Amino acid sequence: MYTDKVMDHFMNPRNVGEIENASGVGQVGNPKCGDIMKVYLDIENNVIKDAKFRTFGCGAAVATSSMATELVIGKTVEEALKITNKTVMEALEGLPPAKVHCSCLAEEALQSALWNYAQTNGLVIEGLEEPREVDHHHGEEEE
Ligand code: FES
Repeated sequence: MYTDKVMDHFMNPRNVGEIENASGVGQVGNPKCGDIMKVYLDIENNVIKDAKFRTFGCGAAVATSSMATELVIGKTVEEALKITNKTVMEALEGLPPAKVHCSCLAEEALQSALWNYAQTNGLVIEGLEEPREVDHHHGEEEE
């Protein structure tokens, strides 16, 4: 049911953890299942130097977040914005249809972290929209 790539990222997820003094932090919940995803970005000179995530989510959520963090590291903010759940799913060589919504969690958490970064730094980034779901409780933890 899952591709080898999905299994690999599920069994050995990359970039699990937190970044202290992250440039941007985003947390989203999946309305379909209640699972939660948090993404931390370390951004320097508009380039994502590091990305980490934590999730209370299913295997597909773990795999997509792992892949999403891999994809954004080394990218500029603008490039990272173009990474959608489709990009991530393609990189994982597909997800079962019932698990597609899980991949949205990674995309939304990423966007939310970028939004947080832009807000914190007073930046207007083209194509970046306010995420529709942000957990405001976690705003205090950021710079
Ligand atoms: Fe909740 Fe997959 S079932 S993220």
